[in-house]
Amino acid sequence: MRILRTVADVRSAVRAARAEGRTVGLVPTMGAFHEGHLSLIRAARAGTDLVVVSLFVNPTQFGAGEDLTAYPRDEARDAELAAGAGADILFAPAVDEVYPHGFATSIHVSGITDVLCGATRGPGHFDGVATVVTKLLQIVAPDTAYFGQKDAQQVLVVRRVVRDLDIPVRIEACPIVREPDGLAMSSRNVYLDAGARARAAHINRALDAAEAAVAAGETDAAAVVAAARSVLDAAGIEPEYLELRSAGDLAPVDTVDDAALLAVAARVGAARLIDNRILEAHA
Ligand code: PAF
Repeated sequence: MRILRTVADVRSAVRAARAEGRTVGLVPTMGAFHEGHLSLIRAARAGTDLVVVSLFVNPTQFGAGEDLTAYPRDEARDAELAAGAGADILFAPAVDEVYPHGFATSIHVSGITDVLCGATRGPGHFDGVATVVTKLLQIVAPDTAYFGQKDAQQVLVVRRVVRDLDIPVRIEACPIVREPDGLAMSSRNVYLDAGARARAAHINRALDAAEAAVAAGETDAAAVVAAARSVLDAAGIEPEYLELRSAGDLAPVDTVDDAALLAVAARVGAARLIDNRILEAHA
């Protein structure tokens, strides 16, 4: 695996692969790899010929007072893990390679960014995500780009950018990878002390409770959300949001029939955690 730092070097490596008729996969990341990231890299390895993993802690998607400086960084460890999972190139640019002096462009997706993390983290978060992902898609020009379904709203935002800007790439959303007790893997789980770590597992249990309610025939959105909420309440977790929305466009839903996204964000100890579940009523 090669570590490349510049846009020009990545473009030249991709050009050489294309000249040999090879397909290209991109896994955009901010590093601090866990099994969730490695599952994306393995999916890219299985699906494409040249696997490019980007490692860039993108400053523009962090709000004031968020964890940009504390965000875990260990490039040497990440490089070893990425190589082991099958990456060919680790693109790890400096901030001024991505945002050179005078950088003045931002991609804003309206509507679906007004709710959930867009509402709680502020509109700048998804502007930062959309802008950096658009840049990475332009730089690498992959056939397929791989994202984790844990960031369900991010996947929808990226799909919308790709559709609206006619970017010729297939977006593949890969399943959430969980710890044995169900906690969704996240780079931010390292912020959890032992007590918070134990409580954090209740987020997935809350989603389980909602899913069980739907499986038992409940279709009223408020009742489904209440089933999840009671698990969070019992664990002393106050969600930033716990909402059931259409999985396609994040519109509010009153009943669960077509695919609905139950999305949750909560601060547990020092970590802000997100998780979600697609719920579908079966006739
Ligand atoms: O999901 C992430 O790690 C980031 O939001 C992404 C997609 C790499 C953009 O910085």
